[in-house]
Amino acid sequence: MGSSSAQDRSTLPIDRLIASRSRSIDASGIRKVFDLGAKLKDPINLSIGQPDFAVPEVMREAAAHAIRENRSGYSVTQGIPDLHQAIWRHLERDVGWKGPTSDLGCIVTSGTSGGLLLGLMAVLDPGDEFIAPDPYFVMYPQMARMMGARCVTCDTYPDFRMTAERVEPLITPRTKAVLVNSPSNPCGTVLTGAEMADLVDLCRRKGVLLVSDEIYDEFCFADGREEGRCPSPARMSEECLLIRGFGKTYGCTGWRLGYAAGPMPIIQEIAKFQQYTFVCAPTPLQWGVIPAFDVDLSPVVAEYTRRRDMVVQALEGVTTVARPCGAFYAFVEVPRRLGLTATQFVERAIAERVLVIPGNVFSTRDTHFRLSFATLPAKLEEGLSILRRLMQ
Ligand SMILES: Cc1ncc(COP(=O)(O)O)c(C=O)c1O
Repeated sequence: MGSSSAQDRSTLPIDRLIASRSRSIDASGIRKVFDLGAKLKDPINLSIGQPDFAVPEVMREAAAHAIRENRSGYSVTQGIPDLHQAIWRHLERDVGWKGPTSDLGCIVTSGTSGGLLLGLMAVLDPGDEFIAPDPYFVMYPQMARMMGARCVTCDTYPDFRMTAERVEPLITPRTKAVLVNSPSNPCGTVLTGAEMADLVDLCRRKGVLLVSDEIYDEFCFADGREEGRCPSPARMSEECLLIRGFGKTYGCTGWRLGYAAGPMPIIQEIAKFQQYTFVCAPTPLQWGVIPAFDVDLSPVVAEYTRRRDMVVQALEGVTTVARPCGAFYAFVEVPRRLGLTATQFVERAIAERVLVIPGNVFSTRDTHFRLSFATLPAKLEEGLSILRRLMQ
């Protein structure tokens, strides 16, 4: 039976069946580095995109309690009311948004990715464009392809700042949105309040939606903060779409939880798509993140600040690094005198057991590599000294 069904499968005209949409998408370059790393003995892994600390106890307890209480069925599409209340309390404290109102809504999503995907689906028709920074988070151009839309990249080298001045010339009649990511993956760049205000103003003038991917909002170092907080366009306007997540901030990437907040008509469209795709975010874990907003993350942020300083100091004098002010990444230039592409340099690094990601995974250029400092300081130090030697 088994072999006959395998035979049946082999008669399918697979080539004709696979959608051209699928063919336009390449497997994640990050996965390729992971696969290479899996073959290494005792790798020094500086490619990891998730925090290396445990989920706060109070959150694990809340999730476990929800499971024990059998709160495991579907939730309403928008997310459980208790979590909504916690999010609105936080948004009011953090950005001054008082909701929900008929103008301002919120929905709990399956990760930040869920919010981004459904948010972009809500505004993009095939052929439409949105503008995102280059270097970009790997999902942005791929999500555009999934929708038959176009991700127009805004070259931000060498300082990685997506300023209104750089964005404005890229706006066309097909532009529906500008996607800003601060603190950024892969650069750790944090835009200033003034830079955000200029983007808000530009989007308002041009009639396009400003989408703000703030997954790393809590991982903003003192030198990226203004009045103690990470600059956000939400403090200047209620007309942007705010996409946030719990995974990176609280070390629970596998819980798949985030939220989108912004103009109610857009949130309603997102809810419609959620109804027919994800249905709802994982219910017991929605209970799990309710206490998140009361967790004091300052010791974690202090630790990442210390590691950021280690990175900047270790690479000083051998290459240029735009000083990261948030997240847990640095985007490091391969010194030009080496005459290597980033991919060639990363091959050399991997031969010495150090895993980093070549810049062409995040960019149209292949001149830098992404280094994650979400790893134990001893390993980070060892990796940095090998990278430094390779760059000398
Ligand atoms: C900038 C950025 N946005 C979104 C995501 C997706 O996050 P989530 O795991 O919450 O879907 C990531 C994950 O690496 C990211 O770096």
